[in-house]
Amino acid sequence: MTKAIIIGATSGIGRGLTSLLVEKGYAVAATGRRIDMLEELQKEHPSVLIKTMDINDCEATITGLNELIAVLGGLDLLILSSGIGNMNPTLEYDIEMRTPQTNVMGWTSIVVHIFKYFEQQKSGHLVAISSVAGLRGSRFAPSYGATKAYQINFLEGLRQKAGKLKTSVFVTDIRPGFVDTAMAQGAGIFWVASVEKASRQIFGAIRRKRKVAYVTKRWRIAAFVFRLIPRWLYDRA
Ligand SMILES: NC(=O)c1ccc[n+]([C@@H]2O[C@H](COP(=O)([O-])OP(=O)(O)OC[C@H]3O[C@@H](n4cnc5c(N)ncnc54)[C@H](OP(=O)(O)O)[C@@H]3O)[C@@H](O)[C@H]2O)c1
Repeated sequence: MTKAIIIGATSGIGRGLTSLLVEKGYAVAATGRRIDMLEELQKEHPSVLIKTMDINDCEATITGLNELIAVLGGLDLLILSSGIGNMNPTLEYDIEMRTPQTNVMGWTSIVVHIFKYFEQQKSGHLVAISSVAGLRGSRFAPSYGATKAYQINFLEGLRQKAGKLKTSVFVTDIRPGFVDTAMAQGAGIFWVASVEKASRQIFGAIRRKRKVAYVTKRWRIAAFVFRLIPRWLYDRA
């Protein structure tokens, strides 16, 4: 039985993936800060192990992950879905500072720990949910886009490192466009995928051990065009 941990499973994409992995017969442990949501998840799927975890507390998170791995009896797949993101057109200081705390500092602590675990084990699959937002800067949410660019770049580095190991360690970067969750709110959003559809496509990418996957698939084309926009034009948008 494939053993998986999903970080950020209390809502949205992480929660959708938890249900799907259980359905597919995986042994799953789910984490997040909101215990009520984790308990609800466990009521729906009694086989799921749950543990509260605030990824901003790096030390406690690593301890918690090690405990979960021990209870699961090993680890084959880790999905890191935790993240925060707010529209911040007025550049509120608190939001710009809080976002990297979770999306960069907490996030890095987990991927480094788990990559090393898989490296030692000589197998394992690390999957992280970044975003199309990491491809270009945004005046509406500068910190969010920058943290997602960091994640994309970091995952590329790890993937290169995994390739050199010549073991069965895989790294997958999932880049969603818009998915119908608490995070994707407000005007101006389009091509919004349901959590179910996004989860199915992410699961397909995980199964195929894709290096990078856009969700939904049409976002691959949008991302390509997005990157081609010349800077002089993009700066005026
Ligand atoms: N929805 C979209 O359109 C979209 C697009 C591109 C990328 N993404 C990315 O997809 C990922 C999942 O987001 P979502 O859309 O599913 O939104 P969501 O429903 O708000 O889920 C965010 C998850 O992150 C967890 N989280 C946040 N801060 C945390 C912390 N300090 N410690 C532990 N867990 C924490 C939340 O759990 P607790 O609050 O219980 O801790 C929750 O489970 C994020 O990385 C997001 O950037 C989303």
